[in-house]
Amino acid sequence: MGRVIAVASGKGGVGKTTLVSNLSASLARYGQSVIAVDANITTSNLGIHLGVSLFPVTLHDILDGVADVNDALFHHEHGFRIVPGDISIRKLKSFNKRTVGNTLYKLSDKADFVLIDTAAGLGKEATEFIRAADELITVTNPNLPAVTDALKLNAIAKSHDTVPIGVIINRIMNHPSEMPAHEISDFLSLPILGKIPEDKTVHKSVAAKTPVIAYAPKSPAAQHMRSIAAYLIGEEFIPRRSLGHTFFGWMK
Ligand SMILES: Nc1ncnc2c1ncn2[C@@H]1O[C@H](COP(=O)(O)OP(=O)(O)O)[C@@H](O)[C@H]1O
Ligand SMILES: [Mg+2]
Repeated sequence: MGRVIAVASGKGGVGKTTLVSNLSASLARYGQSVIAVDANITTSNLGIHLGVSLFPVTLHDILDGVADVNDALFHHEHGFRIVPGDISIRKLKSFNKRTVGNTLYKLSDKADFVLIDTAAGLGKEATEFIRAADELITVTNPNLPAVTDALKLNAIAKSHDTVPIGVIINRIMNHPSEMPAHEISDFLSLPILGKIPEDKTVHKSVAAKTPVIAYAPKSPAAQHMRSIAAYLIGEEFIPRRSLGHTFFGWMK
């Protein structure tokens, strides 16, 4: 069975969808079989980040029991599969612990990694997926409100045997008002899986509907995302030479 990892945040807009698309593409490059799940039930956008938005079958159909998981698995050009969300506003008939758990269980049988792009916040839409996952990756920006909201995710995970494996701090600008990484780690009692700088290449890659690791592999954001993927599979990450210095500078 593959590892089912929920990628979640307390606040919205911190970079979950960007991370799921890039970690999926990076893990695929490391030879892993990956399924990325768009679990933003009401505001699906993983497909949009990846340049595909009109899918005939979606996660909605699986949860509603009108389609099988095999019918909603689409191959992406970057080497992984995606279970898309539904971009139309359509109410789910059946969304509960059992339907979510069954779906993730079936997917975990088909891949090394199932990465779930969860909805922001602590509503049912996010918590059902966090509960049903094996592991939780917390994503935050380096500011106190985002980090405070992220703390609540730990409690949800722990009460359902989901293991919080660490925090990714995204969009670091090294501004004096930012919360330092070690404080975020202490506050959340989580190891740091990655520290990703604010990088305008990310905006360009989103506009180009391509993961930044493929759009600009040498960019700082891409290198950091690839290093997180390497960590997840216990591989050593070797940064591209031209940015090696910058990369290690950031790691300190
Ligand atoms: N490291 C980064 N540097 C610059 N912009 C980023 C970075 N990570 C994400 N973004 C931008 O932040 C916005 C929100 O990211 P997104 O992945 O959609 O967040 P979420 O899924 O958590 O709501 C997007 O416009 C994205 O391009
Ligand atoms: Mg998102």
